[in-house]
Amino acid sequence: MIRSELPAAEVRLRPMTTGDADRVLAIYQAGLDGGNASFETVAPSWVDFDAGRLPAHRLVAVDGDGTVVGWVAVSPTSSRAVYSGVVEHSVYVDPAARGRGAARRLLDALIDSTDAAGIWTIQSGVFPENAASLALHRRAGFRVVGTRERVGRHQGRWRDVVLLERRSPLVK
Ligand SMILES: CC(C)(COP(=O)(O)OP(=O)(O)OC[C@H]1O[C@@H](n2cnc3c(N)ncnc32)[C@H](O)[C@@H]1OP(=O)(O)O)[C@@H](O)C(=O)NCCC(=O)NCCS
Repeated sequence: MIRSELPAAEVRLRPMTTGDADRVLAIYQAGLDGGNASFETVAPSWVDFDAGRLPAHRLVAVDGDGTVVGWVAVSPTSSRAVYSGVVEHSVYVDPAARGRGAARRLLDALIDSTDAAGIWTIQSGVFPENAASLALHRRAGFRVVGTRERVGRHQGRWRDVVLLERRSPLVK
């Protein structure tokens, strides 16, 4: 059976570990190669990935044979105390495992994790062409803040970015 035929029920979540580095970065690179995930074109080294993301809120989705098929992680947005509960997240799923609910489960679990830690806002910037990400986030309760127009160049082309955010109702 090829991976994309596995039922969604066989995807389970667990905390990301250093041992997941190669799969996490390969899935990251596959997402970047699609051209609609990020301004970045090359996945970082594990050292840089690890240094830039909060250890407490990193999850992977694994399929029935234990292969990592997706991940979610967050970075702080500012060193200012007032924004200490505001993070920016990334969620990436292996192209062979998309459309099975892995990202939705990762995002829901991330929200549980950040809510429990008192993080009040999760935000992300998404290219308007990234229909899958926009649908995923809308269904997970994110709102569109607005669209930044031609805010950066990606492979020589100016791109708009839709700003999304989810304000936790639990953190008061
Ligand atoms: C965006 C991404 C993470 C979605 O992963 P996924 O596991 O396929 O998403 P899911 O199967 O969990 O789908 C989540 C929801 O989005 C919807 N969706 C997924 N792909 C879609 C698409 N191409 N078009 C429209 N809706 C889509 C699903 O119907 C689902 O809605 P539902 O909960 O009502 O059924 C995946 O496409 C990816 O890794 N893309 C490259 C990296 C990227 O762009 N990351 C986001 C950067 S902001």
